Amino acid sequence: MSNPLPRNVPTHVAIIMDGNGRWANLRGLPRTMGHRKGVEAVREAVRTAGEVGIRYLTLFAFSSENWRRPEAEVSDLMGLLKAFIRRDLADLHHQNVRIRVIGDRANLRGDILPLLLEAEDTTRGNTGITLVIAFNYGSRDEMTRAMQSLALDVAQGRLSAEQITPERIAGRLDTAGIPDPDLVLRTSGEERLSNFLLWQAAYSELLFVPELWPDFNRDVFLTALKTYAGRERRFGGLVPQTLAVGS
Ligand code: FPP
Repeated sequence: MSNPLPRNVPTHVAIIMDGNGRWANLRGLPRTMGHRKGVEAVREAVRTAGEVGIRYLTLFAFSSENWRRPEAEVSDLMGLLKAFIRRDLADLHHQNVRIRVIGDRANLRGDILPLLLEAEDTTRGNTGITLVIAFNYGSRDEMTRAMQSLALDVAQGRLSAEQITPERIAGRLDTAGIPDPDLVLRTSGEERLSNFLLWQAAYSELLFVPELWPDFNRDVFLTALKTYAGRERRFGGLVPQTLAVGS
């Protein structure tokens, strides 16, 4: 039987889309076919997230460490992201999707940066789900850039060291203004964060599902959301019931 729509829907879901290569290998196909199929899974994930009322969906599209892959694969991933924006931007805009891009924008070559900026500009005023694309993103790099910008403010007398608070640090991250993820999900059975949203995921629920990213369809997503709905979040405190019993 197919999944009913979930209750207790997270505001922000962040996904590490892993397993494209293995999906292709299992079928004797080149890795690039796995990435291609992965883009279809991206479309379905955005649709499903919008349908159930998730407000922010962050997708780890390309990490700052992915440059270490063979040049052909890097260029294939770039090509797919560019094609996705060219082909889907109008449709996403029509669906009222707002696009935000996180990651280091400095030193990006070619037409990728103008396309990412166009996607953000076109959809800036939209009020539906925010699709956050993590591109050339690495959490340590993001935090380093945030620290450098705060250090500069201190060095130039705009801020004192004591004025550096968790809120100010969060405000300098690429994700400024975006609520922390309630759920960080990784596909393909690997159980790592891989330098993804390390600051923001401090209190996120973590969920590792066995499906490879190209197989991540609506049903797998809804099942994951059901698992999330059954989790008890305490943010370092106690569950209300325990408090009542203990008081
Ligand atoms: C991990 O699979 C996946 C990636 C490195 C890239 C994910 C990118 C896409 C799905 C396409 C472009 C994105 C968007 C938003 C349109 P892997 O290659 O590491 O798989 P493996 O671990 O099985 O080798």
